[in-house]
Amino acid sequence: MSQEDSFLYDSFPDGFLWGVGTSAFQIEGGTKDGGRGASIWDTFCLKSSNIIDKSNGDVTCDSYHKYEEDIKLVKELGVNFYRFSISWSRVIPDATGSGEVNPVGVQYYNNLIDGLLAVGIMPVATLYHMDLPQCIDDEGGFLNESLLIDTFTKYADVCFKEFGDRVKYWITFNEPKIIVTLSYGNGYFPPGIKSPFEGVYQAAHNLLKAHASAWHLYDTSYRNTQNGKCFISLNSAFFIPKDPNCPEDVETTELAHQFTTGWFAHPIFIDGDYPPIMKTKIGELSKKEGREKSRLPVFTEEEKRFIKGTSDFLGFNFYTSTLVSAPDNDMPPDIQYDVNILAKYTVDPSWKQMSLFFLNIVPHGLRGMMNWINKEYNSVPVFLTETGFSNSTGTTDDPDRVQFFKSYINELLKAVKLDGCNVIAFTAWTLLDNFEWVFGYTCKFGLASVDFESEEKRRTPKKSFYYYSKLIKNNGFTDISE
Ligand code: NOJ
Repeated sequence: MSQEDSFLYDSFPDGFLWGVGTSAFQIEGGTKDGGRGASIWDTFCLKSSNIIDKSNGDVTCDSYHKYEEDIKLVKELGVNFYRFSISWSRVIPDATGSGEVNPVGVQYYNNLIDGLLAVGIMPVATLYHMDLPQCIDDEGGFLNESLLIDTFTKYADVCFKEFGDRVKYWITFNEPKIIVTLSYGNGYFPPGIKSPFEGVYQAAHNLLKAHASAWHLYDTSYRNTQNGKCFISLNSAFFIPKDPNCPEDVETTELAHQFTTGWFAHPIFIDGDYPPIMKTKIGELSKKEGREKSRLPVFTEEEKRFIKGTSDFLGFNFYTSTLVSAPDNDMPPDIQYDVNILAKYTVDPSWKQMSLFFLNIVPHGLRGMMNWINKEYNSVPVFLTETGFSNSTGTTDDPDRVQFFKSYINELLKAVKLDGCNVIAFTAWTLLDNFEWVFGYTCKFGLASVDFESEEKRRTPKKSFYYYSKLIKNNGFTDISE
């Protein structure tokens, strides 16, 4: 599995789910409409140097007003489900104060959900996709344990109550690893805190508890009547030993997996606690740094029991792969190095990159990742919640994106059909070119382009849109003329 073997002409199992995804801040705009409160991204964008093209999410695709067009597009694409996220600050604008539910915000999501169901598309809703209400951040955000758990659980309760009669798939947090490392580790994302040794671990600790709290709420108060599923969406690159014959590289690769996927998946899917190797390594590092106790927070026995088993599927976002080796002493400064994992990352010179330069196009990495998860977490059902390709132009003639989906999905098919991995759904990222966080509008991931200059934010499907649509119709690759 170190590279692609020949293309597999076969189809996915019956009932395999196909979808497309978006997130609220990236597409909605209407940030001041309908009584929405501010989120950390509104604040972050006010400082123009934070975003590469000095843009913001104030209007973006204007899906707050154009959701009916989005529904039409989704229908035309022919997917089974549409993954969108709910803007917390639209539903509860004053989360730390009155906590009142905003009927206009609720109505917006009711319209979206009803519109999807009317054309036979299943809604898959993410509760948290990077956009923390500013008022929660003002009081410490993810570092304020009790506030995060309390407000997130109340917000989840409102969403389950208002929308759960129709939404049967709930994602609690999208990409916890990115939330904690970018927002509390290197400070690239709001609130811009740089605390790579302690803040990241504390934020992750609190996030896991908030996730578990929302899952238990669903499990005890809603599951019986609503019959849905509730899960978390993790993300990772696939880590490949640079030299598979070098035991240190192989060992470091496993470390990288455990410090990334394992950080969140081990507590949830194995035993309520962090991977043993993570506890050992961070404990050792902490000692070396002269600390009395480990930088990795500790769960009580009760907390472990509370966290274990709190996800009905393993949601996963997958884009890229990277080579891993053990660090050596004379490392050139341009090589990426993770001080917590003690690993160094490089790329295979034959790999191409997307316009987001750190995303390497490595189709067989998806197969490898699915196999790693399948083995590590006892064939847990995997719901792929994102995979996509970025370039810098919104051109509708996008052969590279077509090739991307063709090759990645074919590797996924091999994982399912040849290796027996338990993957139940695939989600293409994303429906529309949109606000790509700190990269603003310079990176386009959409299956449809958006004319951001036009008043009506005109949407135009790209060739990849039609390619994906056909692939869904065939439930895979049965047409060998492709
Ligand atoms: C993952 C994030 O969930 C999504 O918001 C982002 O647009 C894609 N990665 C691409 O970077």
